[in-house]
Amino acid sequence: MDIFEKIGSLAKRRGFIYPGSEIYGGLAGTWDYGPLGVELKRNIKEQFWKTIVQNHENVVGLDAAIMMNPKAWEASGHLEAFSDPLVECKKCHHRFREDELKGEGCPDCKGGLTEPKQFNLMVEALLGVIEGEKQKVYLRGEITQGVHVNFKQVLNSTRVKIPFGIAQIGKAFRNEITPGGLTYRSREFEQMELQFYVSPEDDEANKWMEYWKGQRREWYLSLGMKENNLRFREHAPNERAHYARAAFDIEFRIPETDEWKEMEGIHHRGEWDLSRHEKFSKEDLTYFDEEKKERFIPWVIETSGGVDRAALFFLMNAYTEEKVTDNTQPTTDNKKQAAKEETRVVLKLHPKLAPYKVAIFPLLANKPELVEKAQSIHDMLKKSWMVVFDARGNIGKRYRAQDEAGTPFCVTIDFDTMEDDSVTIRDRDTMKQERIEIEKLEEYLKKKLE
Ligand code: GAP
Repeated sequence: MDIFEKIGSLAKRRGFIYPGSEIYGGLAGTWDYGPLGVELKRNIKEQFWKTIVQNHENVVGLDAAIMMNPKAWEASGHLEAFSDPLVECKKCHHRFREDELKGEGCPDCKGGLTEPKQFNLMVEALLGVIEGEKQKVYLRGEITQGVHVNFKQVLNSTRVKIPFGIAQIGKAFRNEITPGGLTYRSREFEQMELQFYVSPEDDEANKWMEYWKGQRREWYLSLGMKENNLRFREHAPNERAHYARAAFDIEFRIPETDEWKEMEGIHHRGEWDLSRHEKFSKEDLTYFDEEKKERFIPWVIETSGGVDRAALFFLMNAYTEEKVTDNTQPTTDNKKQAAKEETRVVLKLHPKLAPYKVAIFPLLANKPELVEKAQSIHDMLKKSWMVVFDARGNIGKRYRAQDEAGTPFCVTIDFDTMEDDSVTIRDRDTMKQERIEIEKLEEYLKKKLE
């Protein structure tokens, strides 16, 4: 099994990610997030917001509508730029305009090419109630344009001054020709972006480009991405999107391979967006710099990450198979353990990303006093963290389930607990167990998790 198959199977088995509407045979390129997946994604988005908006006084947030006046997409160039006859390499998935190809096969890797299609990336929808009078609109192909059309509103309603940014998280939709690689290339996906407005000078643009590249790299590392799984790759001029003057991808190395895949894009969009919206809307979208007494159209430095791609790559980055001897019983169980070797699968997710922070186990489900005590600890901890209660099966199986869910700590309530008000706490990564008094549990977890 390759890593995509392993993650796909674990994701489904444990409730991270399911194929979209599977009971009806699915819908290609769509995915549903289960109870664990939704928490993972929420945590990623929360960390993005904290780092980008909360920690930067010159960044504000926005949540724009998915459907926009179609003129916005004419202005952004998305309708025009994606209506060429496109072919895609079946191997490396690079796309090419068929009319610009010389020779046969993929120019990059010589792989076979798909049949040419008059291909529009934008997903269409019909809005309105009366048949024949419905208006064709588009589901946004990038979340970006909702920010740029609100540039003036944000300027007028807040105290921001250039350089400043507007961050947004939300769904985007694309008619991808070849969705695949689990959620890697989906038709419905979520983006987390920053549009950062700077004065139109090369020095300024370069300075902020470097700043945000550094910030975004640090963000992935601070959440547990391994350094040797990350790199920047600069786009050659002929592969840049129509709006980009310069572009870098943050790429992730697929574990067990030498294959690098795009995780996030950092683009110098120049004055493209605001100048086009000014032209098409006929609204003045210039900025007046009070200090320099200058009026100009700002340039934009953008960071654009995929939430689903980050979730997928954080899962791959955390996925570990380890040979262990069975030491899953709480230390209070005096029975000698037969030392048999087995493979455990564990998601070594950063605690900030882990869906559940703590699992609570009463040692035996049929002992009401243990279950009641475990419930009271669950009730205490749930005020601070996402915790899960599990009373089913033997303790070994429960540990394995939480290892695969990436839960950093498991707390077992046993007969000794009833005597000494202590519990056994087990660390996901080291599998070490220690006894701790219940009244010190919250403090202990706070230190470890936060
Ligand atoms: N606003 C710029 C923009 O949208 P992009 O490089 O097309 O740039 C940015 O997309 C990020 O969005 C990508 O790096 C990727 O993480 C995510 N993304 C793009 N298309 C995707 C798809 N079909 N499925 C999942 N994620 C996608």
